[in-house]
Amino acid sequence: MVANSDTITATTDKIVNKSAPLKPASSLPIVNIDDPQYPRYQDDVKYPPIEEFEHVDRGHNADPKKAALLGAASEIIELTPHIGTEIHGIQLNKLTDQQKDELALLVAERGVVFFRDQDINIHEQIELGRYYGPLHIHPTSGQPKDIPEAHVVLLDGEKTKRQEYIVGRSNSDLWHTDVSYERQPPGLTTLKIDTLPPVGGDTLWASSYLAYEKLSPAIQQLLEGLEAVHSAKEQADASARFGGPVRREPVEHTHPIIRTHPVTKRKALYVNPVFTRRIVGLSHRESDTLLRLLYDHVAGGYDFTVRFKWQKNSVAVWDNRVTVHNAIFDYLTIGRRHGLRVTPQAEKPYLEKSE
Ligand SMILES: [Fe+2]
Repeated sequence: MVANSDTITATTDKIVNKSAPLKPASSLPIVNIDDPQYPRYQDDVKYPPIEEFEHVDRGHNADPKKAALLGAASEIIELTPHIGTEIHGIQLNKLTDQQKDELALLVAERGVVFFRDQDINIHEQIELGRYYGPLHIHPTSGQPKDIPEAHVVLLDGEKTKRQEYIVGRSNSDLWHTDVSYERQPPGLTTLKIDTLPPVGGDTLWASSYLAYEKLSPAIQQLLEGLEAVHSAKEQADASARFGGPVRREPVEHTHPIIRTHPVTKRKALYVNPVFTRRIVGLSHRESDTLLRLLYDHVAGGYDFTVRFKWQKNSVAVWDNRVTVHNAIFDYLTIGRRHGLRVTPQAEKPYLEKSE
C-alpha cells in the first residue's frame, strides 16, 4: 500500500514534494551485505559468556554544572520538563574527556540527549562508546562486516515479515531497555540514524525515574522488595526460527525491579515487556498482573515521555538504566530506517534502600 503523498510532510529535509508518490517498501533496493553500513546475519562466529567487570561511571568525574559541555553548545533545548534535551553546536567526535564525563552526567539526569547533523562515523562512535564501558556485542542482531560492536538497526516492510517479535504485537508492548537480560546491562548508549523513510520512524523515550516516582508510595514499597527475571531466550529462539544467528548462549538474569542510578542516586523502574519474564516469588497470575500494571503505567506516561523526530545524521545518546524506549513502526509500507547503535555495558543493577 502506498500512502497518500498529499498527506505527507517530509521530516528528513525541508522539501515537501507533494507530486512524487512515495515508494512502497517492496520497491526498495535489496540490502547489500557487503556494504559496511548493512548487517550480515549468517555469521558463524560464537562468543563465550560475557565476563563480569567492575564498572566505574564516568559521570562521577563530571562538573555538576557541566560547563565544558554546555558552554560549548550554541543552543540547548529542553524538550519536556522531565526527559529529553536537544543540543546544537557540538560534534560528538570532537569531545574532550571532560565533556564526555559531563555528557554522561547530563544523560543520566535528562535520560536522553539529542544531537543533529553529526559527522561521527561508526569507528569514532565505537571509540566514544568504549570510553564509557566494555561494548556489548549483540547475540542475534545483524552486524556490519568486521564491526561486531555495532548493532544494526534496520527495518522496512520486507524485513518486518521475518521479525516475529514485531508482527502481531502492539507498539505499546515494545517498550524496552536494551538487552536487560545481561548481568550488566547497558548504560550510556548511542544511536546514529543515517537512512529514514520519507516520514515517520520517530522514537519514544520514557523516564524510568518518573515512572517510579509517579507510583503511589504503597506500590513503590512493594516493588522495592522484588526482583524480576529478564531473559534472552525468546529473542534467541526467534532469531533461530528465522535462520538468524545465536552467537552466544541465551542468558537469564535477575534484577531488582527498582534500581538506583550510581551517579544521580535516583531510583528507576527497571522492567520491560520485551525482556522481563516474571517476578521472583510471585505466582504467575500475580506476576503477570503486576507487570501489566507497570507496563500500562509507562505506556500511558505521556507526562514523562519524549518523542524524537530523527533527521539524517541525528544521534541520540540515552541512559538505558533510567529510560525505556519504543521505536514507532508507522513507516513499514513506505520506507526503510537504518542506523548503528553502540552499547557500552554498566554496573549490575542494584537498589540502594532508603534509610
Ligand atoms: Fe532498543
